[in-house]
Amino acid sequence: MTTSTQAPDSPIRRALVVGASGITGSALVDQLVKDGWEVLALSRRASTDGGVRGIAADLRDPSSLTAVLADEHPTHVFFTAWQRQATEAENIAVNGAMVRDLLAALTHAPLEHVALVTGLKHYLGPFEAYAAGEMPDTPFHEEEERLDTPNFYYAQEDELFAAAAAQGFTWSVHRSHTVIGYAVGNAMNMGLTIAAQATIAKELDLDFVFPGSETQWNGLTDMTDAGVLAEQMVWAATDPAGADEAFNIVNGDVFRWRWMWPRLAEHLGVDPDRVKGYEGAPRPLEQQMAAHEGAWPDIARTYGLAESDLSRIASWWHTDADLGRDMEVVTDMGKSRDAGFLAYRRTERAFADLFDRYRAERLIP
Ligand SMILES: NC(=O)c1ccc[n+]([C@@H]2O[C@H](COP(=O)([O-])OP(=O)(O)OC[C@H]3O[C@@H](n4cnc5c(N)ncnc54)[C@H](OP(=O)(O)O)[C@@H]3O)[C@@H](O)[C@H]2O)c1
Repeated sequence: MTTSTQAPDSPIRRALVVGASGITGSALVDQLVKDGWEVLALSRRASTDGGVRGIAADLRDPSSLTAVLADEHPTHVFFTAWQRQATEAENIAVNGAMVRDLLAALTHAPLEHVALVTGLKHYLGPFEAYAAGEMPDTPFHEEEERLDTPNFYYAQEDELFAAAAAQGFTWSVHRSHTVIGYAVGNAMNMGLTIAAQATIAKELDLDFVFPGSETQWNGLTDMTDAGVLAEQMVWAATDPAGADEAFNIVNGDVFRWRWMWPRLAEHLGVDPDRVKGYEGAPRPLEQQMAAHEGAWPDIARTYGLAESDLSRIASWWHTDADLGRDMEVVTDMGKSRDAGFLAYRRTERAFADLFDRYRAERLIP
């Protein structure tokens, strides 16, 4: 367990980060440690590291969850775990149950607040009807009605609301756009995916081709730095203005991919002549990279990289889905700003810092 650096007269704040090894969970752990919290880090492969106590547990096994959490007394829960399923019906069953069973295993704990991270699929619809049905106008605002389409985020929210009412804690929901952050072997990681694409392109002398749609290339968009998301979740968990509310969370700037793509190429050391934008049709990474994936183990050996399994580095499908949307997606941040959350992050800088970190950790050359 961490040694708390909180002032002696401040209330005990003991966080349980659920999904602590993921792209949002690991940023939360870093933020909470920095702020002097006691931190418990739960995931299936959790281990104790750097003063943070790991709790290895499977959220899909309620009896083992109850056993492993019986002697834990977190005051705050940050729920960032999810498991992608083949259909939205299964996503709802599995991911809704993970929230329900986790909170049911903590009825003995002195819970003050539970913060849940979801995303813009709240407005765009689930993967199987992604940005394809009736949608609210952009920029997305928190007070929009839910879509008619079933959605695992709604199921998770409903489990959270029910447990909050029964157990007497406050809640917050954090709707993130595409996350830029640090994780390895997680489900959706655009930053590391683009870095892997650039690495393969440089090594095999290929073009660095934007994979997405014309609308994404030319239209406005925004993104979410995992650090800003973590800051918002900690703010909402500890400031009365954040209690019992859902908040969008993006960096606070907007950009067009036709502006960002060459800049990312430069940060990744790609020859400017090899940088290609949208031309005629989307060119998804799953197709672009299919013939070249076999090169990764050699690249890893040549540069002494930490991960030779490309499937733990690149999530082509997710970057293809986000950059392939045929609509402009921007996100309103007015609600949490009005409530007092003012953090801001420049997206290009977030990418550049992230690439530096992946280089330092030997995930990319
Ligand atoms: N990544 C993005 O770009 C993005 C964008 C918008 C919204 N979101 C949303 O943000 C939320 C969090 O996603 P994320 O991207 O942060 O997830 P992630 O990086 O894939 O991490 C998931 C975490 O959950 C843990 N986990 C998964 N199944 C588990 C189980 N059965 N028992 C215990 N732990 C389990 C994983 O660790 P183990 O594998 O070790 O168990 C990992 O720590 C999701 O709702 C996602 O839809 C993500």
